[in-house]
Amino acid sequence: MNKRISLLLTSSLFLAMAGSGFAHAAVDAVQAQELMKTNKCGKCHEIAKTKTAPSLKKIAAKYKGKTDGEEKIIKNITTGPTVKDADGNEEEHYIIKTKDPAKLKNLAQWILSQ
Ligand code: HEC
Repeated sequence: MNKRISLLLTSSLFLAMAGSGFAHAAVDAVQAQELMKTNKCGKCHEIAKTKTAPSLKKIAAKYKGKTDGEEKIIKNITTGPTVKDADGNEEEHYIIKTKDPAKLKNLAQWILSQ
């Protein structure tokens, strides 16, 4: 094989592998959970158990596969919409203390993966 072509093939293979590796590593679970911890989301949301607020699994089930799932989750935690808890009390949703789009996206994707 011509040296240049083989180099080209090797580098595109490398790029393809790097690309798929990136897709798998895209959700940083540690960062997402740290963010939830520092914002005390766990006061109301658990991963599997519904308390006053729906479990993360429930939220994930609601939005999984929807193209706007990530956007809806981010909106809910950044704009303080009025929400109703399990006891029927209306309150403004807690606003997360970060504006970093990468962190918000990561958290939303992590919630969706529950
Ligand atoms: C004081 C309690 C409380 C805290 C703290 C809280 N939430 Fe919520 N959250 C709720 C309630 C209540 C709802 C509304 C449930 C409903 O409308 O069905 C909700 C809804 C949501 C939803 C949207 C669910 C949907 O069906 O659209 C997401 C996503 C969410 N919370 C994530 C978070 C994250 C992330 C944090 C931390 C940054 C957080 N919440 C902190 C009580 C809380």
